[in-house]
Amino acid sequence: MFKKDFVWGVATAAYQIEGGAFEDGRGLSVWDTFCMEPGNVKFGHTGNFACDHYHRYKEDVALMKELGVKNYRFSVSWSRIIPDGVGEVNPKGIEFYNNLIDELLANGITPYMTLFHWDTPQALEDRGGWKNPDMSDWFAQYARVIGENFGDRVKNFMTINEPQSYLGGYNNRGGMPPKAGYEKRFMIPIIHNTLLAHGKAVIALRETVKDCKISYAPCGDYFYPLDENNSADIEAARKLTFRANDNFDGPHWNVAWYADPIFLGKYPEEHLAGYEQYLPKGWQDDLKIINQPLDFCAQNIYGGRPATTDKDGNPVIVPLKVGFSRMANGWGVVTPKAIKWAAIFLYERYKKPIFITENGMANNDTVTLDGKVHDPQRIDYLHRYIKALSQAADMGVDVGGYFQWSFMDNFEWAQGYNERFGMIWVDYETFERIPKDSAYWYKTVMETNGENL
Ligand code: NOJ
Repeated sequence: MFKKDFVWGVATAAYQIEGGAFEDGRGLSVWDTFCMEPGNVKFGHTGNFACDHYHRYKEDVALMKELGVKNYRFSVSWSRIIPDGVGEVNPKGIEFYNNLIDELLANGITPYMTLFHWDTPQALEDRGGWKNPDMSDWFAQYARVIGENFGDRVKNFMTINEPQSYLGGYNNRGGMPPKAGYEKRFMIPIIHNTLLAHGKAVIALRETVKDCKISYAPCGDYFYPLDENNSADIEAARKLTFRANDNFDGPHWNVAWYADPIFLGKYPEEHLAGYEQYLPKGWQDDLKIINQPLDFCAQNIYGGRPATTDKDGNPVIVPLKVGFSRMANGWGVVTPKAIKWAAIFLYERYKKPIFITENGMANNDTVTLDGKVHDPQRIDYLHRYIKALSQAADMGVDVGGYFQWSFMDNFEWAQGYNERFGMIWVDYETFERIPKDSAYWYKTVMETNGENL
């Protein structure tokens, strides 16, 4: 069962929904330039117009209200607020988010604001972006602008979204800007700068916003026990979840490397053995800044893999069954036990209320002859995951909130508009919105605090 004040919500991100990319003084972000280069994004799609939320935010907030949404996680486009990343603030950018925040509050919806969801200002990328040690100060200055302008009404913040995805995997595989193909020796200081940026942003927010709650929203490679009643399998899943994943593709999916410094004030010992040599000078002192007290532990969780032990008792990853269920985008992650065990393991380790800040399913949705969008697979996926999360709560985990990804179909990065994660179907030519069956279903879940599951 979920606690009485459980936070139910939906989530989006600026570049994925806003559009208005070249309007009202917004500066370019790395995603604008990435989309301009042919071959980077499927079918040459761009976020230039996206869902046109920039012009339709009132309609979107009205839909939220109609669908019973009480909490909305969205991100701010850094280059809309500060076009060059540092320096002059764009009043039109401030005005847009002021209007959005006021509209949300007028409709009884609490804003959960993410400061950075991957859209680095291009002007800063030109100066090295997250590789540049000054980035943490630039990010802190931006956080201060956010706090000073919105902190009278916004009280819930996440600093950075899925640094693992942004900095690591996709960069290395070329699916995200700046396609740097970083080697590990560069990755480690880049991650360190990012953690430091988080810490400095938390300080700036605390100084400018009274009574706020702050976290950051990483992701990870999660494992659950093959046999939930077998303590060896549980231990194997725990170990794998926090392991030093020391292959080249590894650090970006690493849970502990990205979260221990923030929540525990130290890099994990096991990992340091391999990575310490790459950390910048003075990293031990930086840990004090990185380790700011946080109010909750946010995580984006889509799935995980089963774990057991081999005959010598070592943890092993169990391959998914032949013909396993998968999402429309191919991810083999219809593995609801992952959310339950991730919540358990994260709570044990970091001892903070767990907020799932993203969870959802890509599906091949279409408008059927009756003019509706029926998405039973998504309902089934969400049902299984939310139920599994409630089991973690039953086992004593302080589960504080759940945000479905995503409120509406949107620009799925290098996959373009091909993959639909929304509970609202979007026509990308007319910008018509149609709530899918899952949106009405989720309304009943929120209304009953999950007790109808
Ligand atoms: C994680 C990211 O934060 C979000 O931007 C993305 O659309 C979803 N996962 C689905 O891939």
